[in-house]
Amino acid sequence: MSISYTILVTIIALLILFLCLSWVFVSIKVANKEQKEETAERRYFLYTASYALGAVAVGAAAWPLIDQMNPDASVKALATTEVDISSIGLGKTITVLWRGKPIFIRRRTQEEISEAQNVNLNELKDPQKDEDRVKKSEWLVMTGVCTHLGCVPLGNKGDFGGWFCPCHGSHYDTSGRIRKGPAPTNLEIPKYEFVDNNTIKIG
Ligand code: FES
Repeated sequence: MSISYTILVTIIALLILFLCLSWVFVSIKVANKEQKEETAERRYFLYTASYALGAVAVGAAAWPLIDQMNPDASVKALATTEVDISSIGLGKTITVLWRGKPIFIRRRTQEEISEAQNVNLNELKDPQKDEDRVKKSEWLVMTGVCTHLGCVPLGNKGDFGGWFCPCHGSHYDTSGRIRKGPAPTNLEIPKYEFVDNNTIKIG
């Protein structure tokens, strides 16, 4: 049983106790009143108590269903992943799996960075500045799924020194932007952040 469910059951028990005490209080109070008035007050209380108990009962019955819709700890853990990047050398790429997709993490050389930064945006099919695709120029983090039909592009290949998708011949540059071939858009940048200088959290 989850903690939240236990808390709810406790609240229900306290509410029932409160209603019982209220019932006793009202009973004593109306005992000194005229019969007509007493009947009306009791009826009013019974209606109120019934509605309240009904609402609580519905809430208690629905709670396990609502509670089970929350992702459990294992699902939450999959939603983000932390990657140690301390051992990635200059000019090297690692691939990690996140939500079933490959994520490329490349530590770019100065040459690759300069190439990516000096491209004329007018030449691009999906114009995007390199600085808008990275958080630190040395690190390129992107989803390794070709935006044409979903193949996984190969690194250090193609006409632009970046990635090449062999399925139908899409070429991506050192920023992962589409430069040639049928892919319509740049390789996607996932949500990520630097936890510290050696750790990236994806998701
Ligand atoms: S899937 Fe990559 S070019 Fe077609």
